[in-house]
Amino acid sequence: MNPKHKEFEVCLRENISYKSGPFIMVIFGGAGDLAQKKLLPTLYQLFKKKLIENFSIVACGSSSILVEEYRKNSKKWLEKIEGFEESVFNEFEKKLIYHQIDLTKEENFDTLCLTLSELGKQDKTANFIYYLAIPPAILPTVVSNLSLKHLCREKKEAKIVVEKPFGFDKKSAHELNKLLLHHFDENQIYRIDHYLGKETIQNIFFFRFGNAMFEPLWNRNYIDHVQITVAEDIGIENRAIFYEQAGVVRDIVQNHIMQLIALIAMEPPINFEADSIKAERTKVVKSIQPIDLHNLSKSVVMGQYGEGRVNGKHVVGYTDEKKVPKDSKTPTFFAGKFFINNWRWENVPFYVRAGKRLKKRFTEIAIQFKYPPLKLLGHKCQDIEANALVFSIDPKQKVSLHFNVKYPGMENIPFPVDMVFDYKDVFKVDYPSPYERILIDIMKGDLTLFPGQDGIEAMWKIVDPIINAWEKEKNIYKYEAGSFGPDKANELMTHDHRAWRPF
Ligand code: BG6
Repeated sequence: MNPKHKEFEVCLRENISYKSGPFIMVIFGGAGDLAQKKLLPTLYQLFKKKLIENFSIVACGSSSILVEEYRKNSKKWLEKIEGFEESVFNEFEKKLIYHQIDLTKEENFDTLCLTLSELGKQDKTANFIYYLAIPPAILPTVVSNLSLKHLCREKKEAKIVVEKPFGFDKKSAHELNKLLLHHFDENQIYRIDHYLGKETIQNIFFFRFGNAMFEPLWNRNYIDHVQITVAEDIGIENRAIFYEQAGVVRDIVQNHIMQLIALIAMEPPINFEADSIKAERTKVVKSIQPIDLHNLSKSVVMGQYGEGRVNGKHVVGYTDEKKVPKDSKTPTFFAGKFFINNWRWENVPFYVRAGKRLKKRFTEIAIQFKYPPLKLLGHKCQDIEANALVFSIDPKQKVSLHFNVKYPGMENIPFPVDMVFDYKDVFKVDYPSPYERILIDIMKGDLTLFPGQDGIEAMWKIVDPIINAWEKEKNIYKYEAGSFGPDKANELMTHDHRAWRPF
């Protein structure tokens, strides 16, 4: 092991190791998709790593099942994860409590209250975390019911966690926030965007502001354009009801993509505190130029997957997915071009695309630099390529710098190569999944990786007009599952004499 790493790890163990204090987490939507796929697996992993010890999980759901059945179901969900160990699960399941509840009925919260106060009495130091893993439409009712039963303010340390998308549009996000602030203080509210919990995404900040050599180039004088791709090979899985209401813009663009733009384009904050960092992220989003709605098709392409083959398997088209209406026009693919109106980014296009059932899972941010001013090289065999700095987020986790060298030989031919920093080669440590990081930050009370309300409303302000204008014409381009998305999306690029990066 590199001695530097060894020294570093000793220092980390001595200074920064974190173990949560006692807590009671109430998961509304305790048997839902998010609980099954992310929350329970994450809590299980944290337990296995001994980062959480004294806690209870109260899973609230609508089915009338007994706790034994809930535990059995949880085992089925968790068995699928890598590193599952029966003996660890046998201890973990003792922490699981199931509570049947109709969330729309205020009186149903009385029994929940009883359960919680009993648990609270067993450990008076335990903090309450209310995790709202439920559809946005029912969120306000739950918050009001919680508050009517005095589950909030009295417990000064209580935290409330709200999944993305926060609201359905800017107006509803504003209303939801007002409601939350009526019952909770700002520092008790955790608005989640799990992209901010990804190591590779946090690294963008470290890469930019921990090095002196890139920032002088990080502007319109040297950068030609930025490309952001969030491609998924999966379809909508069992989330038709949610997805029919959300579509790709509310599901991915309003939150994950906007956060990526913010991290790439933000100014250095005055310090490393949550408020300073959030202020800079929000400032960028507020500077995004509204899309010209009269020429929507010049900046935006929406698509929907048809049937096809993904990873060698035949898959159905979106409108043949369970519970999706046959005539649905919900977009599952978005490609768009944004500009940021500020001194640094004037006239630098940010091309973004996101979609489901594409060729493969692939998330990447590419900073494409301008060509050298004088074309001295590159007349034979190969044209010179522009430099690019590429952050590979998923499934590979790398940072690569693309540049030209001389191809060895008698001729004078330039050749493009990559200088690569690959996480798995450099770091042999086990690093947390995004949800592990986010849950630990909630327990610690660190809000740095959580979007603030101001930022969320600024993001809705960008996407609301796009959604509304698009809804009027519903111009949707079909693409074959397993492809790169609709051909129409290429026109966004070719029109500007550029091309999407292959994946
Ligand atoms: C979620 C979306 O926020 O992000 C899902 O609701 C999407 O539709 C998921 O599949 C993608 O996350 P990741 O971490 O797998 O890129």
